[in-house]
Amino acid sequence: MSLLEAARLRREELGQKFSAPEKKSLSTDTFNKFSEFIYSISGIRFQIAKNYFLSSKLQKRYEDLGLKGFEEYLQYLHTPTAKQNEYHKLMDEITINETFFFRNEPQLAIFEKEFLIPLIRKRKAEGKNKIRLWSCASSTGDEAYTMALQILRLPEARGMQFEIIGTDICRDAIQKAQKAEYRKYGIRNIPVDMLAQNFTVSNDGHVHTLKQDVRSMVKFQECNLMDSDRIRMLGRFDFAFCRNVLIYFDDASKEQVLRNIYNAILEDGFLIAGHSENLYSHRHIFKSLKEHSQAHAYCKAPPGTEKSRF
Ligand SMILES: C[S@@+](CC[C@H](N)C(=O)[O-])C[C@H]1O[C@@H](n2cnc3c(N)ncnc32)[C@H](O)[C@@H]1O
Repeated sequence: MSLLEAARLRREELGQKFSAPEKKSLSTDTFNKFSEFIYSISGIRFQIAKNYFLSSKLQKRYEDLGLKGFEEYLQYLHTPTAKQNEYHKLMDEITINETFFFRNEPQLAIFEKEFLIPLIRKRKAEGKNKIRLWSCASSTGDEAYTMALQILRLPEARGMQFEIIGTDICRDAIQKAQKAEYRKYGIRNIPVDMLAQNFTVSNDGHVHTLKQDVRSMVKFQECNLMDSDRIRMLGRFDFAFCRNVLIYFDDASKEQVLRNIYNAILEDGFLIAGHSENLYSHRHIFKSLKEHSQAHAYCKAPPGTEKSRF
């Protein structure tokens, strides 16, 4: 499928989320207040260039609540009631949940061959039989289920237990992940035989539902990557996938998120990052495994590694 065709499919499937009513835009001052608020609850940093995007999302939220405008909505966000419900709705609205199965296939092939299989062998040699993997911004589940599909086809995985956890700040995405229903856009990279074996198809051919045996390999939970206490409750992992999410953070929130991931990974575990995520200025936390550069893989930086100055 061409990129153009994939983009068209995606637009059609997401039509509802991205169509907005008549637009009002935020003044710079109000934009900055919202930007600070969103940053404080999620670590996501919006720049003024995103004014149009943010305005339309916020407008939708205050109209749904029957409020009069941006300022009234901002006041509402600071009430205890909003914390219970509205934060989630705001996050559902402003997060970009773009994802699909077998995203960056070359990276996943190297992950399987150079990291997963060797780690399975290592754990077996140590007399251990469990490997834990974390998709830390799992969106609608495509990345976490891709891990499950990769494991299922591996002869080396037999006799081992795998626990895969998918987490995301977006409640709506987590619910979709639990439902495990996908349309053409999300499944377009899945090999045909794997698709036939692991999914059932709706009568009209549009909806592909993942079978229960694969679904049962993955558990999804809401989790904010900025929330150290919440992350500690997830336990320790052999692998953390953190792809296409650090790009939404600024340097300070990236530092916090990477420290949280560092603490969640076992001493000999790995971080698998997205190809557009540059961790160079955080090399005091994660050391790039340059010899596996295509995998965008990192291990924990040795204790005492100096913080980079740029
Ligand atoms: C573009 S998707 C990436 C999905 C998947 N990792 C992939 O690469 O295909 C980014 C996801 O990050 C999530 N996200 C953004 N900020 C987050 C935060 N502070 N904590 C957890 N998830 C967050 C969004 O909700 C969204 O689902």
